[in-house]
Amino acid sequence: MDKIRLAIVGCGGMGTRHLYGLRELSQTPFCNVELVALCDIRRENAELAASEAESLLGVRPLIFTDLEEMARQVPDLAAVDVVTDPSVHHSVACEAMELGLHVMVEKPMAITVKACRKMIEASERNNRLLSIAENYRRDVSARLVRHLLETNAIGEPYMGLFHTLSPSNAIFITPWRHLKLRGGPIIDLGVHFTDMIRYQLGDVEEVYGNVRLVEPTRRKPERIHDTYTFYRNRFEAMEAEVPATAEDTSVAIFQMESGVTVNWIVGLGGHGSCGGERILGTKGSIEGFGTRGGRISLKRRSEEEKSFEEILETTDGFTLEPLAEHFFPSRIAVGDKAVDWKLIALEYYELAEAILHGRRIEVDGISGMKDVAAVYSIFESSKLGRVVKMSEVESCQVYDYQSEIDEALGID
Ligand SMILES: NC(=O)c1ccc[n+]([C@@H]2O[C@H](COP(=O)([O-])OP(=O)(O)OC[C@H]3O[C@@H](n4cnc5c(N)ncnc54)[C@H](O)[C@@H]3O)[C@@H](O)[C@H]2O)c1
Repeated sequence: MDKIRLAIVGCGGMGTRHLYGLRELSQTPFCNVELVALCDIRRENAELAASEAESLLGVRPLIFTDLEEMARQVPDLAAVDVVTDPSVHHSVACEAMELGLHVMVEKPMAITVKACRKMIEASERNNRLLSIAENYRRDVSARLVRHLLETNAIGEPYMGLFHTLSPSNAIFITPWRHLKLRGGPIIDLGVHFTDMIRYQLGDVEEVYGNVRLVEPTRRKPERIHDTYTFYRNRFEAMEAEVPATAEDTSVAIFQMESGVTVNWIVGLGGHGSCGGERILGTKGSIEGFGTRGGRISLKRRSEEEKSFEEILETTDGFTLEPLAEHFFPSRIAVGDKAVDWKLIALEYYELAEAILHGRRIEVDGISGMKDVAAVYSIFESSKLGRVVKMSEVESCQVYDYQSEIDEALGID
């Protein structure tokens, strides 16, 4: 099979997990990506990732600390996978596209809507592909919800509930996830959720939102459960306290273009928890929008609630793409320890197919920008104290909250 030559830029926690994604892909007959180089401004992170790559893939990639030098020295490099923290996604991705490389970038696409727009412009100007690595929608559960909605299984949707609130004052994975200028916890998590809401229910029309910072000081947790060396090393080195500058709690009402209303409660801080996702329709409801390794259920009037397994058994015409069928032959990804890596492998496969054979990119720059804009619409509405139209946020006419980030990072 033809393969594209690819480099990863950003060899931290998720960069390491992407290596496992490549390992999953390499073990299938679909493998169309060859990892040839790694780049990180911290050489030690690239070194550690290179050792990990060597044991996972059998070949040690070249190491760089500068993107331009890498593009110059690595022959036939086709694409980079940007897995840095979000504050530099736009600068790394734009530089890569100016250097003639196709780009896949981790979510959130960029730190602000203007930064997303710069990436879309660079992609168009240089005629390079831009793909956003949004993994949740690639899970079987998400594909199945979409199929149920498309086949009218719950009639006309009229309401969605998206609630995930966890009480804590612990540092969430990395200290940078509590800093407004690097992408706070609501952006980091919320962009997965706006992508799922848009994937299942279409585009957002207007938003009323409220955000607050409940935990101004984040503390190092007593332990972490991760087994990856990178995460463990970083945990050892983590400071005891981080002053948080990014809001950690949000409430919103999304009015969708279709007329559906979505009630959103998303937070990672403070006290009290709530959780639950539901799509309500005129003939029934679905529990869950779909998520990595997730399960869903279906309830219709005068019928017993159907479990994930029962839905799969009784639903006609539900198909997955061939690589997903290969990864999930039973179509149940719940409890599959490799599900994180398999979804990443699906992202890589799609990018390479797009480069080699013109396959459509599912989450392109416009879609990634809409996911980011939908989360920021909650912040912008909160700041202005009024309902905001998505068109105002996407066009940057409403931009009070994000302008401080752009100013600090030199995004114009
Ligand atoms: N899709 C998912 O489920 C998922 C899960 C975790 C993280 N992520 C995303 O992955 C990205 C990275 O998150 P992380 O947790 O791995 O962060 P991290 O801090 O662990 O790693 C970031 C790495 O990027 C490097 N870096 C920073 N600036 C750079 C630059 N200009 N050039 C090259 N390297 C640079 C850092 O040195 C570090 O090694 C974020 O966008 C995050 O939201 C996605």
